[in-house]
Amino acid sequence: MAAPTRFLTTAIDYTNAPPHIGHAYEKILTDVLARHHRLCGRQTYFLTGVDQHGQKVAQSADKEGISPREFADRNTEKFLALYRKLGISNDGWAATTDGRHVRVVQAALQRLFDCGQIYKAAYEGFYSVRAEQFLTDKERGPDGEYGLEWGEVVPLREENYYFKLDREWLLRFLVEFPENIFPTYRRADVMQATHKISGDLCISRPKERLNWGIELPFDRSFVTYVWFDALMNYVSFAGWLADEVNAAPEVRATLPNFADLWPACAQVIGKDILVPAHGIYWPLMLHGLGFRDEEMPKLVVHGWWNVSGEKMSKSTGNVVDPDALANKYGVTALRYYLMRDMATGSDADFSEERLIGRYNSDLANGLGNLLNRTLNMSSRYRGARLSRGGSAAEADEIRGLNEVVLEAVSEYGFQMDHFQPHAALEALWAIVNAANGLVETSAPFKLAKLTDDSAAQARLDAVLYVLADSLRVIALLIEPVLPDASAAMLAQLNVSVPTGNRLESALRDGLAEGHQLNAPTPLFPRIEV
Ligand code: ME8
Ligand code: MG
Repeated sequence: MAAPTRFLTTAIDYTNAPPHIGHAYEKILTDVLARHHRLCGRQTYFLTGVDQHGQKVAQSADKEGISPREFADRNTEKFLALYRKLGISNDGWAATTDGRHVRVVQAALQRLFDCGQIYKAAYEGFYSVRAEQFLTDKERGPDGEYGLEWGEVVPLREENYYFKLDREWLLRFLVEFPENIFPTYRRADVMQATHKISGDLCISRPKERLNWGIELPFDRSFVTYVWFDALMNYVSFAGWLADEVNAAPEVRATLPNFADLWPACAQVIGKDILVPAHGIYWPLMLHGLGFRDEEMPKLVVHGWWNVSGEKMSKSTGNVVDPDALANKYGVTALRYYLMRDMATGSDADFSEERLIGRYNSDLANGLGNLLNRTLNMSSRYRGARLSRGGSAAEADEIRGLNEVVLEAVSEYGFQMDHFQPHAALEALWAIVNAANGLVETSAPFKLAKLTDDSAAQARLDAVLYVLADSLRVIALLIEPVLPDASAAMLAQLNVSVPTGNRLESALRDGLAEGHQLNAPTPLFPRIEV
């Protein structure tokens, strides 16, 4: 049986640097999907957070001469502040230094160790002192040598703990559950990589090399490899083993009931961390811990935001700061642009010009104009009081717009359920365009002048009514992407937020005869450049 609660999670962000636009995008995408489920009246739990352990954090802290904890805490604050600003509606916060998480990770390690799935072995190889990592043949240059970028490279023998990888099971699972990865074409990458796996996964680092991590419960001279730690957040903060290791009542009360949530209906990650972490290690870890095939979470894999066709990187200096963008253009513009300009799964190119262009054309000129002129005309010609217009409501032009609305609502629901907010928005904008088109073709300002023509007056009523009612539907459905604008639109339209399934309400609860609209206030002022 499916879990009663929709559980959505995201990758947890490394705290070795402040948040960038890729982080903001992923959290907004998941926020939109979670809000969509809530809008449909579904029980929802949305978890996101930060990845605080590991070498990257320890090294960055070292450079600044502060402790890894201080460093991670400082950046964690930046992520938290950004996500509050962006309106991210997460229910849980997964920070990997949290004691609730640490206890679950250690319990999981102990289980795997006790049943012989974790073993100790020695590894001999070349080690870069500067990069603090073992090097493989992949790191060798064309001349067969390790390049100067690795600094001093020495032969090293090191004992570590390994997790047995059940490659045969994974291959079978990937074949039997093709829907487990979205978009489905990414499964091929995972299959190919799985075929190439040799050996097992090293899940420890000796403390003399790295001590910023979770100690292995069966050998305190080692800490857990950061990926093993980070991946476990999806179950630890969902309440897995809570009755066992987080049982103190005041602690237990802070965690959800695992059985209600699991498996996640969307684990939203970027394409760079599918292979090997989420596509290979993660299902193998769950399998090793006794999860059944039907209990594997669904991976939703999004693409990459580039800048002028190039990868964002600190060294190029082209890292896009979402906080600065939100301050400059507003959260509405940023959320709209990020959701509208990327199809989930594909890459996109970030550009401020496009952000401004999208905002001005779709929001300022499109939706904003429709809202403003509808409220203004209704106020001027009808004292802001709506009337259906009797038989004039049966005219083709009115029925035509109603049909566009019906079609758009169903398309919108389908696209959101299939992780494609950009296409859901496109569907809503079919309403915006058709409604603005109706204003042009029916020319209400001309109808208003024909005061003695009762047919013209009925037509004007019918037009104003269908425009306002279309706006009501847009206001209800735009909530996941633009929560603030949705609330403001509903207030201007004088519509209260329905409880239960908003999609159904959008289609069912049309504005009443005599409905009174409120005064318009421009919602999406143009961005001037
Ligand atoms: O990988 N465009 O953290 P992270 C789109 N801590 N998405 C991007 C992006 C970009 N330019 N850059 C990064 C980690 N992302 C690990 C995850 S999960 C158990 C541990 C996405 O801070 C990236 O794909 O490097 C990932 O999903 C998320 O941001 C965090 O990346
Ligand atoms: Mg990364």
